[in-house]
Amino acid sequence: MTYILGIESSCDETAAAVVIDGKTIASNIVASQIDLHAEHGGVFPELASRAHVEAIDSVVSQAVRDAGIGYAQLDAIAVTQGPGLVGSLLVGINYAKGLALMADKPLLGINHLEGHIYSLWLSQPFKEPEFPVLVLIVSGGHSELLLMTGHGQYERLGGTIDDAAGEAFDKVGRLLDLPFPGGPHIERAARHGNGTAFDFPRALRDGSYDFSFSGLKTAVRREVTVPPSGSRSRRRRGAEKRAQLRSDVSVNDVAASFQEAVTDILVEKTARAAKEHGVSEIFMAGGVSANTMLRLKMRRETDLPVRYPPLNLCTDNGAMIAAAGYFRYEAGLRTGLDFDVLPNWPLSSQLYEMS
Ligand code: KG4
Ligand code: ZN
Repeated sequence: MTYILGIESSCDETAAAVVIDGKTIASNIVASQIDLHAEHGGVFPELASRAHVEAIDSVVSQAVRDAGIGYAQLDAIAVTQGPGLVGSLLVGINYAKGLALMADKPLLGINHLEGHIYSLWLSQPFKEPEFPVLVLIVSGGHSELLLMTGHGQYERLGGTIDDAAGEAFDKVGRLLDLPFPGGPHIERAARHGNGTAFDFPRALRDGSYDFSFSGLKTAVRREVTVPPSGSRSRRRRGAEKRAQLRSDVSVNDVAASFQEAVTDILVEKTARAAKEHGVSEIFMAGGVSANTMLRLKMRRETDLPVRYPPLNLCTDNGAMIAAAGYFRYEAGLRTGLDFDVLPNWPLSSQLYEMS
């Protein structure tokens, strides 16, 4: 049996997990910073890295303890190298390097997006897919459409040119005075709303596989807020903060119409790409893949099997990093101790050959 410790600290979760043979979760600890960032309505990088420093030692120790093993039994340590917030990534990487030195274990730097994809290998029961598969990663920081042609082999088809899908959910949640992060709260409100009440824009329906969500967010703001009072220059400085939610607006209807628009565009592009590339399956991963409407529509609009991770593995966790690490470990890849964070690391540069 191969035990991989996965460490994740790229954004606002300090997480660690031990995964056996890339598929079985022996332990999975996530220390969330949601409460810390809630009052800012988004992730505040400086606070995030401090919170990682405070949490990382106990999170990793607990993951190893819960797995019922000691450090000596680990085969390798996998850690998120990027993309993500520099200060946050550094905390995980430096901790992992120290641990790898102390316990004399190989170290693997993992792309966070590859981690999200490998969260799908942690569903039980698991059936190895027939490549190629189409992958839609939709999270707080990313919206990517990829063709996965084998383990560690990706071709990027498109991605967001402005806000990520989860970021759009969070920003609209903020406009609607819903708690952070907005995604799950918008989904809840949408259940009681009319999805056709507002005809929000669906951008870039031009045949490209790129996404754009900032116009949608602006359209929602125009619909739901009263213009702030005060001089124009003062307004410009704090427009987003001081925009007031109109009292006659139905939050449920806006949430439902917004959710319709986002999921329409995600599903439309994924379905088209799936057809064009003749894939056998569609994989969805990342926080937004928890969205029930997205899951339903994806199933309805494509006649292909659609996989998504278990709910607790949609958002950031260490198990997905360990699972991705397992495949790299098996392929004989090692990162060495002198690597740096890669805050903008694109996934298509991950190519490697499985032995
Ligand atoms: O994957 P994740 O932890 O973040 C990044 O790696 O960036 O995903 C968090 C994002 C947040 O933007 C959150 O609002 C969104 O996922 N999210 C959802 C749902 N649950 C979480 N969005 C829509 N519907 C949901 N049910
Ligand atoms: Zn993520």
